Amino acid sequence: HALEQSLHWPPKDLQCQHMLKRLHNGARITVQMPPNVEGHWVSTSCEVRPGPEFITRSYRFYRNHTFRAHQFYYADNHCTTPAYTLVVRGRVRLRQASWIVRGGTEADYQVHRVQAVCHAAGAAEELSRRLERNCGGPGPGSWEPNVSYELWGEAGGCDCSRGINFAMHELQLLRVEKQYLHRNPDHPVEELFLGDIHTELAQRMYYRPSSYQPPLQNAKSHEQGCIACRIITRSDELHPPILPPRAELAVALHGQWVSQRCEVRPEVLFLTRHFIFHDDNNTWEGHYYHYSDPVCKHPTFSIYARGRYSRGMHSTRVMGGTEFVFKVNHMRVMPMDLATTSLLNVFSGDECGSQGSWQVGVEQDVTHTDGCVALGIRLPHTEYELFRMERDTHGRYLLYNGQRPSDGSSPDRPDKRATSYQAPLIQCSASSHRPEGGSGRRADHPLKLSNGWRASRPQQAAELMALSAIIMHLIG
Ligand SMILES: *[C@@H]1O[C@H](CO)[C@@H](O)[C@H](O)[C@H]1NC(C)=O
Ligand SMILES: *[C@@H]1O[C@H](CO)[C@@H](O)[C@H](O)[C@H]1NC(C)=O
Ligand SMILES: *[C@@H]1O[C@H](CO)[C@@H](O)[C@H](O)[C@H]1NC(C)=O
Repeated sequence: HALEQSLHWPPKDLQCQHMLKRLHNGARITVQMPPNVEGHWVSTSCEVRPGPEFITRSYRFYRNHTFRAHQFYYADNHCTTPAYTLVVRGRVRLRQASWIVRGGTEADYQVHRVQAVCHAAGAAEELSRRLERNCGGPGPGSWEPNVSYELWGEAGGCDCSRGINFAMHELQLLRVEKQYLHRNPDHPVEELFLGDIHTELAQRMYYRPSSYQPPLQNAKSHEQGCIACRIITRSDELHPPILPPRAELAVALHGQWVSQRCEVRPEVLFLTRHFIFHDDNNTWEGHYYHYSDPVCKHPTFSIYARGRYSRGMHSTRVMGGTEFVFKVNHMRVMPMDLATTSLLNVFSGDECGSQGSWQVGVEQDVTHTDGCVALGIRLPHTEYELFRMERDTHGRYLLYNGQRPSDGSSPDRPDKRATSYQAPLIQCSASSHRPEGGSGRRADHPLKLSNGWRASRPQQAAELMALSAIIMHLIG
């Protein structure tokens, strides 16, 4: 394979930087605006939602703007034991390009009908108990497996979707990407990004998405080798997808890990990440490269952080997860555009490096000022993390860490530890040996100063807003 061959170049210590520059394995990405969502879209793996909930999705959008969405819920983290399925019908209408999440499109939706089918006696018992408690539903013992029940319909009846904390707000934010792989330029992989789910269960019904869930792929043009896609494509509510069982991988952090795509965080943050873990002395280093645009072309600033970590127990709350504690006690910041540089220079006092001295492309250590108030980072800082590991279809290791709290806070207490995950990082080197000189050197810095690029005024204003909204979004 071309991919395996290309992994021998560049030399190992630069491989991670190289992969950060070539996101998506170097595939060319186009974004459809407005997105055409017509078609059948499926999950590419077992997804973990806050709670946790283990779920796969199969959504159909029709030409007449109606949709039919299957959500398959499971009792386990590999989606091998189906518990129940929701079938949701309704209508979705695209509105305008989102100015909260650049590159996304806002939409409105209506739900016309929700049906539930349970796949085992235990699940039927549990679901009917939840419904009885919350909306005077059927009551335990009254539901049979393999029978479809109406939770909500236009014809009337009680709205039981609240009883199970169910909403389709994910349809309020959409984005369609086509990935043109070199191998197969005529058959792009199409991905549909839908809005994120609030990390607090109690907020789920009220939250308007401001980032995305893992993308669905088009059932007709999914990635080759996506076995889950094929299984989910041919499933329905009476034949829920059963994904192949997988061995639980022990989390082994050692080595280096990078983002696979330009990642989106709530509050208009686009970034890529590069982590280095040294498990011989339990220290870690993280590079966070921030951008102003959804394809990570225009850098705004980068952060380098490092500290110690310690491994905890297997999570009792999130099946398959392992708990960690991370500390940050050292940090450097490099502004990469004028807007960020001016913002950093506006802040007075000794609160972020030396006052008024920031220059585009020049890194400063902010450890001695206990972090950077302008970026909302106070040192030392502790975070309670959740990790899991998987292998992708090429056998490469993927590392998932906890989803950031949707309210913009930081998981700085054990009870704020995530119950779901961010987009996975991919292992780029099994060695934690860094390129000579470490982070700051321009030569191996994945951000290129964009000389010709000048932000227009509205763009600058948006970036300043975005930047001031970065409250503790940075670590993890
Ligand atoms: C919309 O199209 C789908 C699929 O063709 C069809 O099943 C459905 O009844 C249509 N709905 C309306 C309201 O026309
Ligand atoms: C439900 O349907 C599945 C698949 O059709 C079948 O294997 C299973 O035995 C059924 N379960 C019950 C309790 O009828
Ligand atoms: C931990 O180990 C790495 C390499 O193995 C080294 O670069 C780093 O300085 C060490 N950190 C501490 C605090 O000992």
